[in-house]
Amino acid sequence: MIVCLCHRISDRDIHREVRSGTACFEQLQDDTRVASSCGACHDCAREVFEAALGVCGGCGRREAAVSAR
Ligand code: FES
Repeated sequence: MIVCLCHRISDRDIHREVRSGTACFEQLQDDTRVASSCGACHDCAREVFEAALGVCGGCGRREAAVSAR
């Protein structure tokens, strides 16, 4: 699924960035430019990013299964 139309960033691209060590959304933006133009994709991009990290969207804590890696 394309998340960011402006920069053609997909959910797979975001997951790949997380697997390669991207740990904060701002770093993801620096590396991919996602959500850095019109901003329409910002909420979706953050949701995909947090899901990839295994972070609880409500409290920001990583889920136990992910943090145990
Ligand atoms: S759709 Fe992502 S910055 Fe415009």
